[in-house]
Parts: sequence; structure tokens; C-alpha cells
Amino acid sequence: MTAPFTTTNAGAPVASDAHAQTVGADGPIVLHDHYLVEKLAQFNRERVPERVVHAKGGGAFGTFTVTNDVSAFTRAALFQPGTTTEMLARFSSVAGEQGSPDTWRDPRGFALKFYTSEGNYDLVGNNTPVFFLRDGIKFPDFIRSQKRLPGSNLRDNDMQWDFWSLSPESAHQVTWLMGDRGLPSSWRHMDGFGSHTYQWINAAGERFWVKYHFKTQQGIDNLSADEASQLAGSDSDHHIRDLHDHIEAGDFPRWTLSVQVMPYEDAKSYRFNPFDLTKVWPHADYPLVEVGVMELNRNPENYFAQIEQATFAPSNFVPGIATSPDKMLLARIFSYADAHRYRVGTNHAQLPVNAPHAASEGGHSYAKDGAMRHSFSPATTPVYAPNSRGGAHADPARAAESAGWESDGELTRSAATLHPEDDDFGQAGTLYREVFDDAARERFLATITGHVGAVRDDEIRERAIAYWTNVDAGLGGALREALAATGAPVEGGQPGTAAEPVRV
Ligand code: HEM
Repeated sequence: MTAPFTTTNAGAPVASDAHAQTVGADGPIVLHDHYLVEKLAQFNRERVPERVVHAKGGGAFGTFTVTNDVSAFTRAALFQPGTTTEMLARFSSVAGEQGSPDTWRDPRGFALKFYTSEGNYDLVGNNTPVFFLRDGIKFPDFIRSQKRLPGSNLRDNDMQWDFWSLSPESAHQVTWLMGDRGLPSSWRHMDGFGSHTYQWINAAGERFWVKYHFKTQQGIDNLSADEASQLAGSDSDHHIRDLHDHIEAGDFPRWTLSVQVMPYEDAKSYRFNPFDLTKVWPHADYPLVEVGVMELNRNPENYFAQIEQATFAPSNFVPGIATSPDKMLLARIFSYADAHRYRVGTNHAQLPVNAPHAASEGGHSYAKDGAMRHSFSPATTPVYAPNSRGGAHADPARAAESAGWESDGELTRSAATLHPEDDDFGQAGTLYREVFDDAARERFLATITGHVGAVRDDEIRERAIAYWTNVDAGLGGALREALAATGAPVEGGQPGTAAEPVRV
């Protein structure tokens, strides 16, 4: 096969791939070597800003196929019997930058985009069913405490434990994080969760509260702390490689999607706030109802165009699916689309990976102009609504009007606890005592001992011990003893050797 000739970006043939134009062989280069200028200038602009969180990740395309009839709960086209929908998944770690090791202890992102016949539906979840916070106003502070110090640019256990111990609602998620599932052996071997409570609406307009669970068909598998730190050095792209290689070999990973469904009225009198993102709903109260199977079977052809520029937004709903009163979810609904306008550009939704290419309506947004806009309607199409010229008009019957909930009261900033079991530590304690087995509890103690042991500030360390004492009194005592044995200066402890810092 003959290779084609190189051209400039404007398509004109290029004289040399290797030599800049100079005045004589050793002379200065000239500014009018526009091909050299184009090459260097283009190179300087190859990056878009990395995601402010979840910067390191990878993903693949696939399908979602419905296997059970859940039409009683939602009218969303993608969840109707017999439907298969093309989709994209992106997995990520949270706090590390692009290039950081895949195997650092961290929650993992589980972001999905479904190209449905009613427009794109994005479900932007994690591999944990809960989160560190229950109010989005704290999110920037939380993330800063997990990232880097302003001066040294180092990550810092004092910052992390200062924030966590002053934010006791984080206890459930930190227990997940410091447990075995904080180090999944691959993205294929972890579950995914929508985490928030979402709203489903059926064809009759009836509303339900739902939580999404994607159970890995590969089985849960985790790394030991030693394996994870070894891989961080020897193969920092371990999870990207694993996903890519398995799909390339035809070994397509699959997850079964089930939902927990809560009747709309139950939320008012449930024993804890069902919209609190730090809580799970016990399966005994709301069992899993199978929905379908997600399979990833196509690697991206171009990482930058299809993964880096992919934009997943919790605000991308389709008819039959909507938000809930979860304050975290409501904050996220603003945050992502705003991040996308900044990170990728105002017309990011026109890029092939983000465009609603399967939508039967095609896409008739009144968005107009802006940097890099390349698709447009015929000049006769009205650019305003309402119009009497045959332009697109809203269709209340197909949109999610019945989505919503009753709301009344003074404007307030409140952490009101209205349900008898609204608390910070209860479910964290249950996870530690009833879900972890003895060996998992031992590994957990070792992990938090290393982590809290790397805190330098005595007051923060004592607060961290109190935090775990609130989760489980025995655990708090064991942590104090373990810290004392490693030489950390804890109240009532004996000096010994310094604890090994462990990175989250
Ligand atoms: C990414 C904000 C909570 C999962 C992001 C991004 C922002 C953000 C700005 C970068 C988006 C981009 O540049 O494309 C927030 C805020 C939160 C919050 C303000 C709380 C109020 C959560 C929660 C979850 C989550 C609770 C999971 C349940 C993710 C995932 C990504 C992400 C998976 C990466 C998406 C991708 O792969 O492109 N978040 N986040 N976030 N967030 Fe959040």
C-alpha cells in the first residue's frame, strides 16, 4: 500500500516532514515556514484541561439489553422489554491526576452514556453505593482535602483526616474505601452503582424511587495493599490495559443491572432519609429487581476523541427517569454540564461521542453558534421559539412532566434530620461488623492504622480515633492500640517505630 503525502491542516502538500526552512544550512529559521509554525502551535494545543476529579480513566463501548419487564416502573424507552441500546462506559479513579497509577486506593468512577431513541441518558456513578457527603456545597472542600497541599504539592494525610473527622457523614464511604473494595483488581471485577436515589415514572405517570446496582458477572476481585502498590510502580495503567486487552481478545465484560424500587409514598415515612447519599437501602426492605445486562465489546479507536472528550452529565435524563430531592444529585445537575462547557467547549454535545445519534427526533435544540459549532440547520429553520414557521416545539406529553415531588417550606440551609434513623455512623458500623468477615476486619484495621498513623497533628489523629470509635467502639480501641504499637503518639500509647504512610 502506498502511504499518502503529508498535507498541512488546510490540505496542501508539505515539502518536508523533517527539515525546517532556514537561511542556508546553518542559518536561522524563518517565520514564514508556516508548516513548522502550524506543527508547533498545534502541538501546544493538544490537551484540553483534565477533569478536575476522575482525571485518570479509560473506557469502552458496548450494549445494554433489557432482560426483564420493568415497564410497570418506568416508561424510559431504553428499559422497555426487547430493547438493546448502544452505550459508552468510562471508569476512573477520583483524586489522582492523569498519569497517576490506576491502583491507588480510591473510589472508582462508573460513568455510563446510553445512546437511546429518546436522547442520551447518562448515569454517572461509582463502584460504591454511597458517598462521603450529603450536601454538594462541601464537594470542592472535600476534593481539595484529598488532592495536594498548596505549597509542597504533596498529598497529605493530615488534610484528609482533618476533613473526614470534621465531616462524620463520610464514615460509611470511608469504611468502603479503606476496606477490600478500595482496591479492585480491575474495572471488570467491580460492581457499579448509580449511588443516588433517582425517580422513575411509568406510562401512567406513577412515580417510584430507584437505586441502580450493576453486579459484575466477572465476580468481585480485589488487590491486596502490597499488590496494589507494586502495580502502581510496575504498571500504572493496569486497569486501562486489563479492560482493553480483554475486549481485544473477545472476552467481553458484563454486568447485570438491577434496581431497588421504593413506592413513591414510602419515602415520607421511611426510617431514614432515602435521599441521603451516605446511606444504602437494606435489600430486605427493597429487594433487587433485575432490569438487563450491560456488555462492553468495542474498544475506542481514539482515546482522546472518544474517552477524554466524552462528557457524562447527571442532568442528561430521558422521559421516564428524573432526579430526586438528594441535595448531592441536585448540585451535580448543575456542575457537570458547566464543567463540560469549560473543559471541552460550549458545543461539546456536537462531538460524535457525545451527540444523541440514536435519538429518533434527531436533535432539534435551539442552541446556536459558539466556538467550534459545525452542525447547523437549513437557513430557513427558525432560530427562536415560539414561531409560526414550522420550527421545533416542545412536547409536554413526551417530556418528564410528572417527574417531581411535593415541596413546601421556608428557604433554609439545613441539615434537618426528620427520620428516626438519620445518623452518621450506623451503617458504617453495620458494614464493619456484619458485612466484613474476620480477615477483612483485620486488613481494614491494618489499612486505617497505616493511614491514621501517617497523620502528624496530634489533635487530628485523636479525632480520627474518635471517628472510628463512633463507627465501632471495639474498632476505635484496636486502632488506638495498633497506633501505639507503631509508635504514633496517641493518648495512652507507648512509643515504638513510625507507621508506614499509606496513600488514599
Ligand atoms: C466527574 C463534580 C459527586 C461520580 C466529575 C466532574 C465534576 C464533578 C466537575 C468532572 C466532569 C468533567 O470534566 O467531565 C461533582 C460534584 C459532586 C460530585 C460537584 C457533588 C456535589 C459525585 C458522586 C459521584 C460522582 C456522588 C458518584 C456517585 C463522578 C464520575 C466522574 C465525575 C464517575 C467522571 C465522569 C467521566 O468519566 O467523565 N464530578 N461530583 N461524582 N464524577 Fe462527580
